Amino acid sequence: MYKHAIITGGSSGIGKAIATLLIQTGAHVSIIARNQTKLNSTQAELEALKTNSEQQILAISADISHWEQAEKAIAKAITELGSPDLLITSAGIAHPGYFTELPLNIFEETMAINYFGTLYSIKAALPSMIEQRKGHIVLISSGAGLIGLYGYTPYSPSKFAVRGLAESLRGELKTAGLHISIVYPPDTDTPQLAAENQTKPPETKLITQSAQMMTAEQVAIEILQAIYRKVFVITPGLEMSLLMRLHSLISPLLQWYFDSIVTKLRQVNLH
Ligand SMILES: NC(=O)c1ccc[n+]([C@@H]2O[C@H](COP(=O)([O-])OP(=O)(O)OC[C@H]3O[C@@H](n4cnc5c(N)ncnc54)[C@H](OP(=O)(O)O)[C@@H]3O)[C@@H](O)[C@H]2O)c1
Repeated sequence: MYKHAIITGGSSGIGKAIATLLIQTGAHVSIIARNQTKLNSTQAELEALKTNSEQQILAISADISHWEQAEKAIAKAITELGSPDLLITSAGIAHPGYFTELPLNIFEETMAINYFGTLYSIKAALPSMIEQRKGHIVLISSGAGLIGLYGYTPYSPSKFAVRGLAESLRGELKTAGLHISIVYPPDTDTPQLAAENQTKPPETKLITQSAQMMTAEQVAIEILQAIYRKVFVITPGLEMSLLMRLHSLISPLLQWYFDSIVTKLRQVNLH
């Protein structure tokens, strides 16, 4: 059982689902996100699930893509509830579209939040975790961090970067007595996915339409079960498990399949 979990992006979707499960195990939980109204309403929902009166829930508003804000938010959580024995970096955004049409600021913002926001949160929490010589850090990547996806040119690279960070950091944390996991969720029914569907090119919709979709709760359960077992690579659902193990091998096949979908759609649109 964890004593204090800090969850970036804990006000919504996968982060909120993990917070919900952790609260029910008796943990203190700090959630970090930008929108205070969403934070307040999630905090109220979590308060109702507390298993004992000692339990505390902190809702901290910060934009983790800015180092000063990320550091201040994590410092506040540590001052009030102690060093985290669990840090989950779930804050993220996705804005699909055609590479040629998307403005540069979308690419920059996506990398700033998904990659640097993850890195800043870890940098800010790590000194106290190292001091305690215990704790687990969980980075949320994506299936789009394993294979590049049509229409996801801002998002996929940011999630590849998160994978690189987890894999290169793993050994350093091990020597410090800490654990790390990286999660590759499939499409998950959250507000982010609903927002993505607004800007997804039709080709991307066709490519992803047959993919498995999980609920945020299902993903959260798989994550918690895996981190209790100290699993490094977490792949919720069968499709992500297969993709993780086979992606290098089947990449040419997947590219051929995706290209054939794009070509078919273009032909239909021409007639
Ligand atoms: N849903 C999927 O299909 C899916 C699939 C694979 C991976 N993922 C990944 O899973 C993670 C969670 O996604 P989700 O679907 O649960 O999304 P979500 O419901 O939109 O939640 C995202 C959370 O991140 C917070 N956030 C976004 N930008 C932030 C920033 N700059 N600073 C602090 N907090 C920020 C949001 O709150 P505010 O907006 O108030 O800041 C919200 O709490 C993301 O990293 C996402 O890329 C999602």
